Amino acid sequence: MLINNAGITRDNLLFKMTEQDWDSVLGVHLKGSFLMTREVQKYQTQEKWGRIVNLSSTSALGNRGQVNYSAAKAGMQGFTKTLAIELGKFNVTANAIAPGFIATDMTAATAERLGMSFEDFKAAAASQIPVQRVGTPDDIANLASFLVSDGAGFISGQVIYVAGGPKD
Ligand SMILES: NC(=O)c1ccc[n+]([C@@H]2O[C@H](COP(=O)([O-])OP(=O)(O)OC[C@H]3O[C@@H](n4cnc5c(N)ncnc54)[C@H](O)[C@@H]3O)[C@@H](O)[C@H]2O)c1
Repeated sequence: MLINNAGITRDNLLFKMTEQDWDSVLGVHLKGSFLMTREVQKYQTQEKWGRIVNLSSTSALGNRGQVNYSAAKAGMQGFTKTLAIELGKFNVTANAIAPGFIATDMTAATAERLGMSFEDFKAAAASQIPVQRVGTPDDIANLASFLVSDGAGFISGQVIYVAGGPKD
């Protein structure tokens, strides 16, 4: 199984975004996932069994200050669907998880950059989420562990939002 989880943010409004920040974000998320998947699929197709889970984001739907990250995470969705089509005949599935706000080092760093305490940042986010809390890494891990299980073999090419409420 392969989980393409590595990620970075280099947020800025479009008019201030450098080419380097664009390339870094697209490089880690998209090129990194492409290179990892191209290697791992050799073994998965040979074994006639494989599971690939890619981390997208609700930012794929658009998020102010994240033109690079949003493009990368939307790209992860197209990448996932194409993997599902190409690799299905080898019993390899590919799905994407698109988290909303999850309390991790990434969101802690965003709070710091915005000059807010992490607690205040999480409380502000939670107030906008239907279940009235932010997500935890376990919320994502629970879905990932299902998607890589044998029981998920007929689910492929899906993007599942894990955001405490609906997204479209
Ligand atoms: N935290 C959120 O709210 C949130 C929301 C949506 C999607 N995501 C996505 O979930 C994934 C995990 O994010 P997180 O919140 O745990 O972030 P994080 O910053 O806490 O962890 C990211 C991890 O990726 C690793 N990484 C970064 N660049 C790498 C590289 N070039 N090679 C290898 N490893 C590298 C880092 O070392 C770190 O361990 C990311 O893809 C992120 O975009 C996070």
